[in-house]
Amino acid sequence: MLRHMSEFPSARLPLTQLPAWQALKVHFAEVENLELRGLFAQDAARGERMTAEGAGLYLDYSKNRVTDETLRLLLQLVREAGVEARRDAMFGGERINVTENRAVLHTALRAPRGATVQVDGQNVVPDVQEVLDRLSDFAQGVRAGTWTGSTGKPIRNIVNIGIGGSDLGPVMAHEALKHYADRNLTLRFVSNVDGTDLVEKTRDLNPEETLFIVSSKTFTTQETMANARSARVWLLAGLGKVQDENATIAKHFVAVSTNATEVSTFGIDTANMFGFWDWVGGRYSMDSAIGLSLMIAIGPEGFRELLAGFHDMDEHFRTAPLEENLPVLLGVLGVWYRNFFGAQTHAVLPYDQYLAYFPAYLQQLDMESNGKHVTLTGEHVNYDTGPVVWGQPGTNGQHAFYQLIHQGTALIPCDFLGFCQTLNPLPPHHDLLMANVFAQTEALAFGKTLEQVQAEGVGADLAPHRVFEGNRPTNTLLADRLTPRVLGALIALYEHKVFVQGAIWNINSFDQWGVELGKVLAGKIVPELQAEGEPELGHDSSTNALIRRYRARRG
Ligand code: F6P
Repeated sequence: MLRHMSEFPSARLPLTQLPAWQALKVHFAEVENLELRGLFAQDAARGERMTAEGAGLYLDYSKNRVTDETLRLLLQLVREAGVEARRDAMFGGERINVTENRAVLHTALRAPRGATVQVDGQNVVPDVQEVLDRLSDFAQGVRAGTWTGSTGKPIRNIVNIGIGGSDLGPVMAHEALKHYADRNLTLRFVSNVDGTDLVEKTRDLNPEETLFIVSSKTFTTQETMANARSARVWLLAGLGKVQDENATIAKHFVAVSTNATEVSTFGIDTANMFGFWDWVGGRYSMDSAIGLSLMIAIGPEGFRELLAGFHDMDEHFRTAPLEENLPVLLGVLGVWYRNFFGAQTHAVLPYDQYLAYFPAYLQQLDMESNGKHVTLTGEHVNYDTGPVVWGQPGTNGQHAFYQLIHQGTALIPCDFLGFCQTLNPLPPHHDLLMANVFAQTEALAFGKTLEQVQAEGVGADLAPHRVFEGNRPTNTLLADRLTPRVLGALIALYEHKVFVQGAIWNINSFDQWGVELGKVLAGKIVPELQAEGEPELGHDSSTNALIRRYRARRG
């Protein structure tokens, strides 16, 4: 049931009618052509002044096309848009996900044991901690070899089956925290309904030593259920004749879900199910039981450290003044480029190989959250919302797509992420890596003028090709070291950045109706592909022809 909007702190003037928005429009016309070269020349302290720090992360936002007045107006926009009240409503357990009538409380997943977070008058923290304790016991058992497979062999392979929020977080964090993982365990993540994914990820595994974690909030997702069923077949075929199928499955399959009924229908003992709650969105769930595979890899203590990092950033977001608030600053800078400069994409460029999947993780977090075209009250927006988020680790990206960021015609704001200490000291690699972070942001901001190019003796023909206009905006985020705690803070930083932007745009960042239509249509087409005779097809002529061609040629 859609609750009346006046019940929510987001009831407010339309975005474009807010005084700060109007003022920003006027201001934009004045500063649009300002150059970072000039801004830095005028203010020797800019690079130290326009920085903020919180939860172990240092943000340098000085290489953005903003003045002090821009920031003042952007923060005024945050106030007028009611972002703070909305933030407090989220932390307070109000049902701010109006289209699903749910609270949004991923922050409760990392609240300390003794904290109180109320949902409908009930403190949910004890439930969260109870599940964490059960997860820890289970993870410990697997790590210690006391949880064995059905033939008594210790589990050595853990395969998480899930998709979207039930996959991307564990995949990303497992890669990010590999350094802290038990290397005697093999972790695999199966997500794609393409059978190749399951086949390739299981082909070298011994079923006797393999545990499947079926992760699905709903336990109805087509891809996950198909993979889970095939994994069951693979396991039973690999084990040969078993005496008691249910007892065998119980040793090799556990579930993470909110849907106990579907879990037991599938054949997994609900004693081996780890729950979470409808107030945890899929893309905000990696710090719930969805993180079980990660917890097995890095251990319960490492997982608790990760949660502590999330909580550090939650507290920073909740309490730091807007001027020093990292998620707020990243959020408003994104709005500045998206809505005033018309930037369509935003790149996230981690200079750490362990963060290889961080951009992919952020794609779901950001694009599923803020890829919306109506406001909370259902009006079509008359401004742009979420950008396309993309990226891959430096320095590889430098040799692929940075050319376009430096000299192309699109404005692409970028976040550069780096660490002062490496986890793998191999001199001089880390200095080389970090030199590239600093060099790239310097080059993007200040470029190289025609005069500089000519002064180098470059001829008139070539000179235009060698000019770097610069004025390409970047943020640089530095942390000392990639630890579980720092990773937690980094993820929470982006969660809250997305929140700030969604609140400014007055959209619901917590539903995802846009993925439904395709799911429904696929459900209709499956029986048409599998029908014995020639099925009657009622689609458009293109879809009908494609289905017929596929049926005729699939062999
Ligand atoms: O892609 C849509 C979506 O609902 C995501 O929001 C979610 O993370 C994913 O599917 C998986 O859902 P489930 O955990 O219910 O299998």
